[in-house]
Amino acid sequence: LRTAAVIPAAGRGVRLGPGAPKALRALNGTPMLIHAVRAMAASRAVSLVVVVAPADGAAEVRALLDEYEHAMPERTEVVVVPGGETRQQSVKLGLDALPEDVSVVLVHDAARPLVPVDTVDAVVEAVRDGAPAVVPALPLADTVKQVEPRTDGQPEPVVATPERALLRAVQTPQGFDRAILVRAHETVPASGEGATDCAGMVERLGEPVVVVPGHEEAFKVTRPLDLVLAEAVLARRRA
Ligand code: C5P
Repeated sequence: LRTAAVIPAAGRGVRLGPGAPKALRALNGTPMLIHAVRAMAASRAVSLVVVVAPADGAAEVRALLDEYEHAMPERTEVVVVPGGETRQQSVKLGLDALPEDVSVVLVHDAARPLVPVDTVDAVVEAVRDGAPAVVPALPLADTVKQVEPRTDGQPEPVVATPERALLRAVQTPQGFDRAILVRAHETVPASGEGATDCAGMVERLGEPVVVVPGHEEAFKVTRPLDLVLAEAVLARRRA
């Protein structure tokens, strides 16, 4: 069962502040995307990585990956395709680039550059064992409230407090039986902002999604503080 990883990396990263597209920003001198590709390539199961670049930046991303080729395991092929308007569209464009013999697909955010290989392997193994869709996830530290969103600056009313013990924060890589993920992308409309996670699309097909333990270091680099944390994790790994 050949396994490939699709890395959507076409986001602007506006919440991180002004600057280059998020995936191209450096963590301890190395672009986040390179860390993310290496995190996927670190798994012996992964023989192909498809990077979905900003639509106007595919050549730049290709050049960057070539520059870091020496830092990748030889068994891993890395392909670059241009991305779309939303994460969902970018993932679809990545799936379209997969060769026929790939039957297991990981979808991994470029914005989660530090996911440990054991987490990647656990996801792959669960799919190879027969689960159609697998997500790594962690229990929540914070209590979560559902609100009635307001745009007029007034305080937002709380609508509900879901029971925290039943909630999980999901990470990537999310793993899929390829045929099911392709069907989800053909069935679920890409309207509005699109889906924020692929497993949610599979749920809408009525197919089961299961959880495996996630890892603290698989956190998503979203806001400026996350950059500080990511660089501290890297420094600790090198120590
Ligand atoms: O915006 P968010 O943090 O949810 O983005 C998650 C991942 O999806 C990031 O790696 C980002 O680069 C990617 N993305 C994309 N195409 C878009 C928007 C986001 O590939 N149009």
